Amino acid sequence: MDIKAIKDKFNALFGKELRVYTSPGRVNLIGEHTDYNGGFVFPGAIDKGIYAAINPNGTDKIRAYSIDYQAMSEFGMREEDAPKEPWARYIFGVVREIQKRGFQPKGFDTVFAGDVPLGAGMSSSAALESTFAFALNDIYNLGIDKFELARIGQSTEHNYCGVKCGIMDQFASIFGKKGHLMRLNCATMEFEYFPFDPKGYKVVLLDTVVKHELASSAYNKRRESCESACAHIAAKHPEVKYLSDATMQMLDEVKNEISNEDYMRAKYVIGEKQRVLDVCDALEKGDYATVGDRMYGTHYGMSKEYEVSCDELDFLNDIAKECGVTGSRVMGGGFGGCTINLVKENLYDKFIATAKEKFNKKFGHEPKVYDVVISDGARRLND
Ligand code: GLA
Repeated sequence: MDIKAIKDKFNALFGKELRVYTSPGRVNLIGEHTDYNGGFVFPGAIDKGIYAAINPNGTDKIRAYSIDYQAMSEFGMREEDAPKEPWARYIFGVVREIQKRGFQPKGFDTVFAGDVPLGAGMSSSAALESTFAFALNDIYNLGIDKFELARIGQSTEHNYCGVKCGIMDQFASIFGKKGHLMRLNCATMEFEYFPFDPKGYKVVLLDTVVKHELASSAYNKRRESCESACAHIAAKHPEVKYLSDATMQMLDEVKNEISNEDYMRAKYVIGEKQRVLDVCDALEKGDYATVGDRMYGTHYGMSKEYEVSCDELDFLNDIAKECGVTGSRVMGGGFGGCTINLVKENLYDKFIATAKEKFNKKFGHEPKVYDVVISDGARRLND
């Protein structure tokens, strides 16, 4: 990222005084659509994120310039001041959510840019929220703990951007650590860092560069299905608080009470819980064949049961299988975006070349390729 360009633009628009903050996007090895079901996720922060120069401006207004959109937005800090530009709503939402928690940040100027691809399932929006939540906490010495910073980003999505997301993306963006994945129990928020350096393998994202419309309403609908299935199970088994607490047997007991669609959604979530645990076990033994097998299992579940895949993603998954790639699956919320692939180093070149060629032939453009580098979470950059 060209930090100098961000600083130069800030100097030109707002003056010399500034601090620079960054927060990254994320990958997730396994554990998809489990976060809002009280299950496990296994994400890591990446070397792509949002970068923002910020300085208090002594007013009660925010002046924000997006380098990527080449656009300025100016807005106040009261509920009725919500900006129209979707990108600015993330910043506004973070400020409002901080205020709702009893803190009083003041107005500021900011110039920001990002190198995490938009809509690719790498959590560009969480990176944006986390950058500003972390920065404002630091600049105004608010003393908000890191878990709450993540929740501020999550509530921003819920209340200002229309997505009832779980906590995974914001958590990963705030807590990320170089060379480590994190296994987070989303019911208790307990987590562990796992060193992740699969010798002889590469982790690579293939971006379909498609983002299907209505992704956020479809996402919210999946969440409703899970909550409905969970309520039916909990009526018989009060110990079940989240869908991830349930077993397949419990789900089968309510099969006739719920729609077939809700049953399929819940089946996926319960299956995914076991796949995450299997992957943790396998990683400790260096058993990447099992890791990869469960990744394919997740892809199948997300495609056929949870129905959040699409032709482009299924096609990339099939190519991975044909090429003998160890593990591959749709990553993140779905409905477009990337597959995450665990590939033996000696297969890498052939896989990428084949995927590009075949995908291009079928869809008229090549997928984008991102090698995954697991990096640090939200932080201030040295001036
Ligand atoms: C999106 C959401 C996350 C999570 C994933 C699916 O990235 O923001 O909370 O639910 O989808 O695992």
